[in-house]
Amino acid sequence: MTTDPRPTLHIDPYERGWIIATIVLLVIFAVAITISGFAMGIQVPAPSGRVNPQTVGQSGQFATPGLRQLTPDKYEVYILAQIWRFDPSEIAVPAGSTVTFFVTSKDVQHSFSIEGTNVNMQIVPGQISRLGHRFDTPGEYRIVCAEYCGTGHAAMYGKIIVTP
Ligand code: CUA
Repeated sequence: MTTDPRPTLHIDPYERGWIIATIVLLVIFAVAITISGFAMGIQVPAPSGRVNPQTVGQSGQFATPGLRQLTPDKYEVYILAQIWRFDPSEIAVPAGSTVTFFVTSKDVQHSFSIEGTNVNMQIVPGQISRLGHRFDTPGEYRIVCAEYCGTGHAAMYGKIIVTP
């Protein structure tokens, strides 16, 4: 009797099972990404515009930051972040309003987070971050800077008052 000199490839059945499961999962992930990106239009957040942080406060919407009413229940608000405040730091809208926030920074990186909501954006000098939210419940919503931006970081906050 002679033994076969060629090496044989032995894959344990369990190992084979896990390899197949891994490949199946990767295919599912790729399909999910393709469907969400191309069919449902879900994209990673991107800046909605670019500005010059040195001159952003001199002309355009950020020269006069604040609330603009578009329709009875639709608002836009332009907010200029800087060390260590939001301008404006307080806005008021009636309950049921949908507010689109446009925020940029004229100095360093900040963030714009509204407590109790999903609104949480990185504010990078040079680009405008945009996110909308519908405020159904009356009350006060605190805006905080959640990105360390220097000694006054903890004092950087504002609020949204949602009136009944
Ligand atoms: Cu701005 Cu922390």
